Order: sequence, then structure tokens, then C-alpha cells
Amino acid sequence: MTTARDGKVVLEVKNLHTYFFNRWGTVKAVDGISFTLREGETLGIVGESGCGKTMTSLSLLRLHPKPASRIIEGEVILDGEDILRRPERDMREIRGHKISMILQDPQTSLNPVYTIGNQLVETLGLKKGSHGNLKNEAEKSLRKVRVAAPERRLEDFPHQMSGGMKQRVVGAIAMACEPMVIIADEPTTALDVTIQLQYLRLLKDIQAETGLSIIFITHDFGIVARMCDRVAVMYAGRFVEEGSVRDIFNNPSHPYTEALIGSVPKVEERVERLYQIEGQPPALYDLPVGCRFESRCRYAKSKCAEEYPPYFEVNEHHKAACWRLDPSWETLPSSSK
Ligand SMILES: Nc1ncnc2c1ncn2[C@@H]1O[C@H](COP(=O)(O)OP(=O)(O)O)[C@@H](O)[C@H]1O
Ligand SMILES: [Mg+2]
Repeated sequence: MTTARDGKVVLEVKNLHTYFFNRWGTVKAVDGISFTLREGETLGIVGESGCGKTMTSLSLLRLHPKPASRIIEGEVILDGEDILRRPERDMREIRGHKISMILQDPQTSLNPVYTIGNQLVETLGLKKGSHGNLKNEAEKSLRKVRVAAPERRLEDFPHQMSGGMKQRVVGAIAMACEPMVIIADEPTTALDVTIQLQYLRLLKDIQAETGLSIIFITHDFGIVARMCDRVAVMYAGRFVEEGSVRDIFNNPSHPYTEALIGSVPKVEERVERLYQIEGQPPALYDLPVGCRFESRCRYAKSKCAEEYPPYFEVNEHHKAACWRLDPSWETLPSSSK
């Protein structure tokens, strides 16, 4: 196991906001996200579809859709430096070398008209101080993700490979230049269950070998339990709770987390049991002033609709934004609804 809690901080995100501006108004896809990530640590970001997980990851690489969306505020301090202050042309150096991303669907990350070898060599060619035989390096990258007979695989086109194999190749490309941080955005949703588990184990093995830090994005709390050291629960553009996996599972302190955990499907089951929480998240262009979960919350009191809750500490490493954690909660009047 990693001793991630003591590791060096490799990424610090402060108060990140990424908004879309369109004819309906302002869509607050990422609305004030802060967290730190240490060397060798895996942070899970979990939440329902549409809550801003992908926009958060894209923003960290400055790959959010432009000009439709803009990072309007915040800092992304990677390896000691705020990359939001760097000119766009520097980002090509930073992406892949310091921070990299594995997307949900390998189909969209691999180019169908080039061989796997070509695509790896292209990435490796960007590697600083790369010399010698890029083909050998490409083979090495494939071996790292446990692709058998890599010398032959280099000649394959993406359509000649299985889904699981393709996702490994995507992983190989993302890790080819040895980034410090990798963001895996629901990397296994397109795979069947056995292949999913193999892939997750592979990522953990590579992390143990290299000290890689991982941001693991999923809507599945079952996967969080297997993969992560810490979890951030995201709802309507914000983190509503954050803590160690153990604390979050043993003592979920935000009603949304509680509901998500209550509906965890077993990884072995294929049934979609996850989103049984009644109601809908609020529209991100028309957010309420109070707690964004209030309309779906069975504990809500009037205060919850009136004012957005600050973070309350559950313990030193565990916090949640819920008025129920306010010492005066019991004395507050119940909801007028
Ligand atoms: N191209 C777009 N134009 C306008 N809004 C968008 C666009 N893409 C995403 N969004 C908004 O950003 C929100 C967050 O999306 P996303 O980060 O993809 O969610 P998640 O990954 O959690 O499912 C969506 O709910 C949507 O409102
Ligand atoms: Mg997404």
C-alpha cells in the first residue's frame, strides 16, 4: 500500500470555476472546486452524470471546450506552478509530461487510421530527452500495460483489438511520457465486468511501481472502494463531501453521499441500481441560493433552502457541506414545506 497521506503534494486545485456562457445564461459546470493530491495517492471523484466531473478533469488540462466554456477563476498548481497562468503553447509540454488523461471511450482517444505503434511513437517523440529507438520505447510502454507480444501489436490498427486491449493502449499512451498525475475519467464503463476489474488492478500495479498520482472519476461507489485512498463527492458543480474512503463509507456525512452509498451496485451485478435517489439535480444555469441538494433531501430544514452550507469538519481529514453538521442544527425550525 502507498503511504499517500504523507506524500509530497503534486497537485493543488484552488477554487476552480469553469462556466459555459450560452443563450440560456451561465452554466456553472465547475463552481468552486478545491482539493490536493499527493504523490502515489488516488483521489476518487464520484457523482451523478452531469454534475461536472468531466469538466473538472478537462479544466485541469485546460482542455475544456473553447470558446463555449471558460475557466473564470481559480488556480491549478501542478508541481509547484499555477498552470492556468502559463501561455497556451506551454500546455503541450505539460500535458502528457506532467498531467495526462484516460478518457471513458477508447474509441475517441485512438485514431482509427494509424497503427498503435504510430500513435505511441508520435507521443513518445514529444518526450523530453527522448533518444534512440522510439519503437523500442513504444514496445516498453505496451509491456508496462501488460500487452503480450508488443512487437507484433505495434502493427495493429485499433479496430483489430478488443475493447480491453484498446483501453490498455490508451493507458500506455497516457503514461508514455511518465506524467506525475493521471486522470482516469470513467475509464472502464465501456468494458465488461471482468475486463474492468483487470484494468483497475493494472492501474493500481502501475501506481505501486511508479508512484503515480491518480484522479479516478466514476459514478460507481463500488469502484471507489476498490481503487481510491480518498473520495470527493461531487454534486451540481461542487464537492459536497471529502474524506478517506474508510471515513466516507463508515460515516457518510452528506445526505447525498449517504444516498449514493445506499445504492451501490455490486461490481459483479450488471444492474443499474445507482440512481434511485428521487428527484433531479438542479439545472446548472438556474441554481438555488441554498444547498443544491435541498429539494431531494429527506432531512432538509428551511435554513437549507436559504443559505449554502459551508464545510463542517467531521474530522481532520473529513469534511462535508451540510447544515446537519452545524452544532445548532437540532434547534433549527423544520422545513415549512
Ligand atoms: N458543450 C456544452 N455546452 C453547455 N453546457 C455543457 C456542455 N458540456 C457540458 N455542459 C454542462 O456541464 C455540466 C457538467 O458536465 P460534465 O462535466 O460532462 O458532467 P459529468 O462528467 O459529471 O457527467 C453538464 O451538466 C452540462 O450542463
Ligand atoms: Mg463525464
